[in-house]
Amino acid sequence: MTPVFAARAVQTALAALGRSHRQVLEVGCGRGDTLRLVADLLPGTELTGIDPSHAAIAAARELLGHDSRISLYRHAAEDLLDAAVADRVSEADLVLVHLTVGLWPDVVGGLHACVGRLSPGGLCYVLDLLRPNTEHAAAAYLAPALTGDEIRYVRDQMAAWYSTDEVEWLAESVCGNHVEVRHRIGFSSFAEVAAGVTDVSSLAICEPTTAVRHTETDNVFQLFFERS
Ligand SMILES: C[S@@+](CC[C@H](N)C(=O)[O-])C[C@H]1O[C@@H](n2cnc3c(N)ncnc32)[C@H](O)[C@@H]1O
Repeated sequence: MTPVFAARAVQTALAALGRSHRQVLEVGCGRGDTLRLVADLLPGTELTGIDPSHAAIAAARELLGHDSRISLYRHAAEDLLDAAVADRVSEADLVLVHLTVGLWPDVVGGLHACVGRLSPGGLCYVLDLLRPNTEHAAAAYLAPALTGDEIRYVRDQMAAWYSTDEVEWLAESVCGNHVEVRHRIGFSSFAEVAAGVTDVSSLAICEPTTAVRHTETDNVFQLFFERS
């Protein structure tokens, strides 16, 4: 993913939060590239990144260790369900979950834990890839794969992404655990995200009966969990 794409995603999250932010938490921060963008965008903000990978946290420390506003811990999202771990990680106004949920073994538990770290009025923003729902849509991802192994690898990756129905199920499952949390869902193309055209206010607050718009050209989903 290009830095432009990540920067637009972060700007969308900040616009959706729409209020001041003293603490930002990135769950699944990897090597710290998105956290670095956030640090540059928000000079007055304290940042925390967690990731279960030793190598990722070591690389993030290398990239960001000089910045005293940034704390990094080796934890998975699901670890935040443990009160002792959650206590180490400050409550956040914005929790970013960027291109990682497809890897989580317990995504409902992990997102439940993320939402549990929100301060009142805070937002948990999730962006990830949508599984193509036709062979035509899958062809764009398969085009660069030349060998049988590469094709199998891309197909395995796509299998781990969420379908639109699974995204809706996921959002309902997370909110079912938090009476004070509402959610919105957006489906978009890469181009729309990169152009920064997500108009969060046009996305309905999802009730079980709300129909969510999506088309064959959508590649990503965005979930906005808003704590009252
Ligand atoms: C593609 S990287 C995304 C990095 C980062 N969010 C970014 O935008 O630059 C995915 C990261 O998710 C992490 N991850 C895997 N399982 C996880 C889990 N259960 N909880 C949190 N992070 C996880 C991986 O270790 C990896 O560093």
